[in-house]
Amino acid sequence: MHILKQLALLSLATIFAPTAVSSRCTFGDECWPEDISWQAFNATVGGHLIRSLPSAAVCHQGPFHNIQACNSTEQNWDNSFWRTNQSGAYTALLWETGEYGQCYLDDIDKPCDQGRVPYYSVNAHNVQDIQASVKFARERDLYLVIKNTGHDHLGRSSGKGSFAIWTHNLKGIDWHESFVPEGAGVGTSGIPAVTIQPGEQWLDVYRAAAEKSVIVVGGSARTVGAAGGYVLGGGHSPFAHYHGLAADNVLEMTIVSADGTHRTINNHTDSDYFWALRGGGGSSWGVVTSVTYKTHPIPQSFIFGLVQINSTSNDTFKRVAKESLQLIPKITQAGFTGYADIEGGFSALFVQPNGTVENFNRTFAPLESLADVPGVSALITSFPGSWNMYLDDFLHDPNIATNIQDASRLLTADVLENKTDELVEFILENGGGFNWIGHANNDERDNTAVHEIWKKSHGVFSASVDWADSASAAEKHQKRELLVHLSNRLTDIVGEDGGTYVNEANPYEPNWQQVFWGDKYQRLLSIKRRVDPTNLFVCNRCVGTNIVLQP
Ligand SMILES: Cc1cc2nc3c(=O)[nH]c(=O)nc-3n(C[C@H](O)[C@H](O)[C@H](O)COP(=O)(O)OP(=O)(O)OC[C@H]3O[C@@H](n4cnc5c(N)ncnc54)[C@H](O)[C@@H]3O)c2cc1C
Ligand SMILES: *[C@@H]1O[C@H](CO)[C@@H](O)[C@H](O)[C@H]1NC(C)=O
Ligand SMILES: *[C@@H]1O[C@H](CO)[C@@H](O)[C@H](O)[C@H]1NC(C)=O
Ligand SMILES: *[C@@H]1O[C@H](CO)[C@@H](O)[C@H](O)[C@H]1NC(C)=O
Ligand SMILES: *[C@@H]1O[C@H](CO)[C@@H](O)[C@H](O)[C@H]1NC(C)=O
Ligand SMILES: *[C@@H]1O[C@H](CO)[C@@H](O)[C@H](O)[C@H]1NC(C)=O
Ligand SMILES: *[C@@H]1O[C@H](CO)[C@@H](O)[C@H](O)[C@H]1NC(C)=O
Ligand SMILES: *[C@@H]1O[C@H](CO)[C@@H](O)[C@H](O)[C@H]1NC(C)=O
Ligand SMILES: *[C@@H]1O[C@H](CO)[C@@H](O)[C@H](O)[C@H]1NC(C)=O
Ligand SMILES: *[C@@H]1O[C@H](CO)[C@@H](O)[C@H](O)[C@H]1NC(C)=O
Repeated sequence: MHILKQLALLSLATIFAPTAVSSRCTFGDECWPEDISWQAFNATVGGHLIRSLPSAAVCHQGPFHNIQACNSTEQNWDNSFWRTNQSGAYTALLWETGEYGQCYLDDIDKPCDQGRVPYYSVNAHNVQDIQASVKFARERDLYLVIKNTGHDHLGRSSGKGSFAIWTHNLKGIDWHESFVPEGAGVGTSGIPAVTIQPGEQWLDVYRAAAEKSVIVVGGSARTVGAAGGYVLGGGHSPFAHYHGLAADNVLEMTIVSADGTHRTINNHTDSDYFWALRGGGGSSWGVVTSVTYKTHPIPQSFIFGLVQINSTSNDTFKRVAKESLQLIPKITQAGFTGYADIEGGFSALFVQPNGTVENFNRTFAPLESLADVPGVSALITSFPGSWNMYLDDFLHDPNIATNIQDASRLLTADVLENKTDELVEFILENGGGFNWIGHANNDERDNTAVHEIWKKSHGVFSASVDWADSASAAEKHQKRELLVHLSNRLTDIVGEDGGTYVNEANPYEPNWQQVFWGDKYQRLLSIKRRVDPTNLFVCNRCVGTNIVLQP
């Protein structure tokens, strides 16, 4: 063949083949490795290959039925610690089965469908297991996914017929009094830091940190992974007002890249790659094997605030919602972080490290007069607390084992103050709340891939859809279309240049590149092409992917 023709074919092959996930081998395809190959591979990962199953599989008739295991499944169905312990269980059930079939507790007389649960997973015990898995997936052209806790909102930690690397059991926390990133110039002074393995979860990290008298900027849910998708997407926190997002606190990461090499990435070794890892999203950049964060002193005290303002009619609701939304920029500027529901009123929990009751009273005083409005009842109160109280009572894991999905936007002061009527109307029709109320310290923002809009944002607003496990395919489809509609409505309110928090976003977001990363997307794409030229790491609406789930 003519050499130019050959070259042309070659380049066409590299342009088209790797981006099409349908060309990747999934279970059931002819190219899927034979049992004997899987056995040989299993030997290279220390026998850590697991046949992963949906969490209810052991309760269904069939080869995996197991009475004792089923009993434990029934007892623990919505236990977040149990769920994250299973290789095939996910926080939102729809990312297990939902779309493709059923395997729940209330349909055990029907066959269990494997759904989106990876067919095989490697229960990684060390970096070598991950390297061997990346190499095998690359050589066999497998649809590869990375699963840590399975908390992902966009279905990025599961995939139909896929092969998974499961990082949950890679545990380890190392404290440094004086950490200096690899490659930093001689004489660079070190700072207090901690290196966390990807399987660690926030509650365990916080408890270990308390023994060292420090905090690490992390999430408010106990079981979210401390060194996986959370930080790769940005990571909001009750401490972000003072110390920035989790990604802002990263000093260094180690990662197994698409070529199988284990690399140390920081501002000195590869500043572009480092920038992408700080907010460019889970899954896209390789398998993270550790994250080193700055640590901070434990706040001497905390103020916890409870705001509960109930309304009894649409008119009183409009007033309550409007005044509450308009106060949010002042609440965050005063140093409070919160989580709120705005249905039938405004119901929120707030926390401020090192806060005072005076500051709380002053900040929330404008809402007190709402109590005098007929048909409105209000409770606005605060109490001082300790770090232990925070660990024991404040942290929780909402919405486990449901089919909830969100459409969200980061709200700026301009939107909260000037588009309030539109927002209130939206909430009246669709419900809504805040996954996080807060204004992050943005000193590091330009050094991260996190959406620029965080600089002006005062919270992650979201509206959700949910369905029963037994919902029909038609109902699920209709709810997913509603979610797209909600995103479009939010764009109408905040504008085309608005954005959202990628980790708490709509899995069917229409204009996702712009909404998740804004102007930073093009740079992310060029880094993706360099560090993963064959697009080994793909997932729903991830940088450079061609997997774009449709409602
Ligand atoms: C109950 C609950 C509470 C939450 N609370 C908060 C909160 O307080 N603050 C906040 O910011 N967010 C919160 N979130 C959102 C959370 O940040 C995302 O769900 C995030 O994706 C979870 O990451 P994970 O690693 O735990 O989960 P997974 O679903 O296992 O992974 C998420 C994504 O990261 C990828 N990934 C995981 N591990 C690795 C790795 N080692 N290397 C490379 N890629 C990896 C996965 O492939 C996937 O794309 C919450 C979510 C839930 C369900
Ligand atoms: C992998 O090997 C181990 C140890 O021999 C075995 O227990 C396990 O079942 C194997 N995994 C699979 C999927 O066959
Ligand atoms: C199921 O587990 C519970 C709690 O561990 C136990 O009390 C019960 O006897 C078990 N039931 C069966 C059928 O094993
Ligand atoms: C999860 O696994 C850990 C480690 O094996 C164990 O200590 C813990 O009890 C498990 N939790 C649940 C709820 O199964
Ligand atoms: C709280 O106060 C302590 C002691 O004054 C200080 O070291 C710490 O940085 C403060 N933390 C925050 C989040 O303000
Ligand atoms: C804060 O407000 C509460 C309720 O109105 C009041 O009881 C308390 O004395 C106030 N505390 C301070 C320090 O202002
Ligand atoms: C508001 O409504 C909730 C739910 O009905 C109720 O539990 C709460 O006590 C009410 N609070 C006030 C201040 O009326
Ligand atoms: C609200 O709109 C007015 C008029 O355009 C503008 O001056 C003001 O800055 C806006 N508010 C915020 C918080 O941006
Ligand atoms: C309240 O508003 C909603 C949404 O606009 C509407 O569907 C509902 O009928 C209204 N309720 C009353 C009592 O007017
Ligand atoms: C990375 O290093 C460059 C040059 O040394 C510096 O300007 C920049 O602020 C550093 N960025 C981070 C995130 O430390």
